[in-house]
Amino acid sequence: MSQRVLTTESGAPVADNQNSATAGVGGPLLLQDQHLLEKLARFNRERIPERVVHARGSGAYGYFEVTDDVTGFTKAAFLSEVGKRTETFIRFSTVADSLGGADAVRDPRGFALKFYTEEGNYDLVGNNTPVFFIKDPIKFPDFIHSQKRDPFTGKQEPDNVWDFWAHSPESTHQITWLFGDRGIPASYRHMHGFGSHTYQWTNEAGEAFFVKYHFKTNQGIRSLSAEQAAELVGKDANSHQTDLLQAIERGVNPSWTLYVQIMPAAEAADYRFNPFDLTKVWPHADYPLQRVGRLVLDRNPDNVFAEVEQAAFSPNNFVPGIGPSPDKMLQGRLFAYADAHRYRLGVNHTLLPVNAPRATTAQNYGRDGFMATRNGSRHDKNYEPNSYQGPAQTDAALSAPLAIHGWTGTHETPAHVKDDDFFQAGELYRLMSEDEKGRLVANIAGSLSQVSREDVVEKNVAHFAAADPEYGRRVAEAVAALRD
Ligand code: HEM
Repeated sequence: MSQRVLTTESGAPVADNQNSATAGVGGPLLLQDQHLLEKLARFNRERIPERVVHARGSGAYGYFEVTDDVTGFTKAAFLSEVGKRTETFIRFSTVADSLGGADAVRDPRGFALKFYTEEGNYDLVGNNTPVFFIKDPIKFPDFIHSQKRDPFTGKQEPDNVWDFWAHSPESTHQITWLFGDRGIPASYRHMHGFGSHTYQWTNEAGEAFFVKYHFKTNQGIRSLSAEQAAELVGKDANSHQTDLLQAIERGVNPSWTLYVQIMPAAEAADYRFNPFDLTKVWPHADYPLQRVGRLVLDRNPDNVFAEVEQAAFSPNNFVPGIGPSPDKMLQGRLFAYADAHRYRLGVNHTLLPVNAPRATTAQNYGRDGFMATRNGSRHDKNYEPNSYQGPAQTDAALSAPLAIHGWTGTHETPAHVKDDDFFQAGELYRLMSEDEKGRLVANIAGSLSQVSREDVVEKNVAHFAAADPEYGRRVAEAVAALRD
């Protein structure tokens, strides 16, 4: 193979890539050295804003295959036939730390999945936990500020972390999950994924169902203790990235089985707790898991920046047959992600290969903006309706309508008969073996004991006690022992 020629960005050959041009031997540089100027200027512009949360992550391509008939519940074309395969891209992530952070930390893991369907891209942007810390999006910026680096000390501060939780009793369930045995996954392959929110499915007949997604890992759950994690971080800060990359390179393709819980829409209003409350799970006894298909990851991206850093997932990207529920958190997210993408990647981020539809093409009247590479031809009008056979609306509803009544206002999340912030946290605690309870209490105490204010500690202990009196007592004793 003949040697390829090094060129400038405009394709002109480069004569010397080792010595910059000078005025005489040993003299100052020449402004006319285009290659040097372009190289330095280009280098200065390599970074883009990192994600404001979930900055650190790893991605992989794969496919989703339908194994069970769900056409009675959704008309989504990619779920319409057993055996049908759809190309996917997934990005796993940690949440709190910045781009250079370590992988093996106690933190939820992101599980963001893009299905390249023939009806457009469907993004399911979930986590490895079935619940979340809060249930109103208006609290999200405060929550994240409290978990990320303190503006003065420049590092995560237990004072801030636990002060936020002291004021957010609804976090008790997720905290119990996070400080339990599954709080530090051994790798991205060895954890489950959840849609977490309740979503709406609509079938061909227009009937609505509420669903929750569960991706069960076929690799088995593996987690790390706090000590194992600290050791691993010292050895390989990128341990999750290493594991995923190497497994797929070796042909050991990780897979997950997708199950859904399905609630007929009419049952939502009288369910014993609010089925749209993201801090709660639906007991499987009420709504059993029904298998849908399997997700297989079989290809590493060729370029981390182009395909993983520039990947853009939005909970707003639905396809016909799948839509949002009235979960307030989800509703907030429907705005936040595409807005973040316009800031982080620009208005034309959907033209990037990883984000563009693959099984269909986008056809609309959006035009121009920075970096417009698909902007219509001379035959395409940039307004609608038009008389030139331009793309037109279908008049087919994407999902079933929701009946709404009441007054506008800043309402608290509606409470159902059995709603409170603690009972599911207590149930999770009581499900644990004695050893697990011991590790949970030790993990919480290890962090909570670093808090400087006694009232903040007490408020948090009161939340654990409300979940289960024994839970609260043991955390209080463990914190006291560490503070002595
Ligand atoms: C109101 C609450 C929330 C808001 C406002 C919010 C906002 C955001 C924003 C702005 C990003 C960065 C997006 C980007 O720059 O590409 C992000 C990333 C992410 N969020 Fe959320 N988030 C919320 C709750 C949640 C919840 C409940 C989950 C999981 C169930 C979740 C999962 C993720 C994941 C997985 C990513 C990373 C996506 C990727 O890999 O590119 N978020 N979030």
